[in-house]
Amino acid sequence: MNILMFGPPGAGKGTQSALLVEKYNLKHISTGDLFRYNIKNQTELGLEAKSYIDAGDLVPDSVTNRMVEQELNNLHQGKGFILDGFPRNVAQAEELSKMLNTNSSFLNKVIFFEVPHELLLDRLTGRRICKKCGAVYHITSKPTKIDSVCDVCGGEVVQRADDRVDAIENRLKVYEEQTSPVKNFYREKGLLAEVDGKGTTDEVFNRVSAVLN
Ligand code: AP5
Ligand code: MG
Repeated sequence: MNILMFGPPGAGKGTQSALLVEKYNLKHISTGDLFRYNIKNQTELGLEAKSYIDAGDLVPDSVTNRMVEQELNNLHQGKGFILDGFPRNVAQAEELSKMLNTNSSFLNKVIFFEVPHELLLDRLTGRRICKKCGAVYHITSKPTKIDSVCDVCGGEVVQRADDRVDAIENRLKVYEEQTSPVKNFYREKGLLAEVDGKGTTDEVFNRVSAVLN
């Protein structure tokens, strides 16, 4: 099964992907996570992407497409995937169709998370992530057991560089202008499933599971 997670920043794409990976044993391909990994390890790709990400702008398509293509080509034969954070504009969506064609692969569903603006702001400003393993927390809905210490690996838990208010505002604007048209691209292909992203993580996961069953 190949799934695409789609929706605005803070909608819960990463949170729901982690649950789906556990349930269906899929490979999680998150472009944001891949960029953060490369930034942390100071690779050439990371250095190229950092200024765009910190400002909340899109990394250029040429860089992003190449990275995703590599991930798709490196998938183990027959292993399903979850794409999270890609495509983020119509040009990327068209590029993805070509990549999948080349690999004789296809998407089963595109899950779109509908979340009101105020809730997105709360989720983004309250998010904290582990510097070491990337586990995701939230100051009220999912706090760490010990202040600033990751429950999973003991690493330091911090705020993402692009979860500052100015960067959040820009990310939401970029989403509206460049990413939201991708929704129609997949609606026209008959792949879009709209899921209510409000409520607890478990409530949302039940809705996602119902769509996939
Ligand atoms: P990326 O990392 O993809 O960021 P994003 O799309 O802005 O999405 P987020 O990760 O912020 O939100 P999410 O939907 O995963 O929410 P989460 O589950 O964490 O991209 C970062 C940057 O990389 C981009 O700005 C861009 O620069 C670059 N980039 C990435 N892909 C690119 C591409 N294709 N092209 C060009 N550039 C690209 O949840 C948020 C918070 O809410 C968490 O704290 C969580 O605990 C909490 N939460 C989640 N669900 C619930 C719930 N149901 N109830 C209560 N709390 C919840
Ligand atoms: Mg995410």
